[in-house]
Amino acid sequence: MVKLYLCLRKEAKKMKIQIINGPNLNLLGVREPDVYGNVSFAAYFTQLQAIFPDVELDYFQSNIEGEIVDKIHEAGFGFDGIVLNAAGYTHTSVAIRDAIKAVPAPVVEVHISNVFAREEFRHRSMLSAVCEGIIVGFGLDSYRLAIEALRGKNKKQEQDKKRKNYA
Ligand code: DQA
Repeated sequence: MVKLYLCLRKEAKKMKIQIINGPNLNLLGVREPDVYGNVSFAAYFTQLQAIFPDVELDYFQSNIEGEIVDKIHEAGFGFDGIVLNAAGYTHTSVAIRDAIKAVPAPVVEVHISNVFAREEFRHRSMLSAVCEGIIVGFGLDSYRLAIEALRGKNKKQEQDKKRKNYA
């Protein structure tokens, strides 16, 4: 008699990260290229997807504060992390700060330019204190570094969970 063994391997669940860009970042590649470079976010996003095949990346951009708040609410309960460049709202928005505090997902604040080497009004962030961490001044690579940081944190949490289950 031939015994048939079916081996069903559970697919590892992909980590989910939401990227949110704020006002004027729809003009990346065109806007002040000396500060923000000449690559569009759409082109860079394709690179990010190739760098992180193990991560489900979602991209959202809005010039409207309330839409950014809504997206943080939406992603903040279902995603494993948020990479947020709130752009100009970084320096002014109590509403975005409160939204970050309201959701369980860790948020990494990113900036393409080194805001501390620029005008003084950019030195203050309403968001940094309620974010998991901040990555500033590495050009578009700031987003990759933020994803690395969230992925590292997530892996560590998964390992800790497994260790607890075996203990
Ligand atoms: C920015 C810095 C902000 O001060 C500015 O308003 C932006 C972009 C950055 O990525 O360097 O729009 O967040």
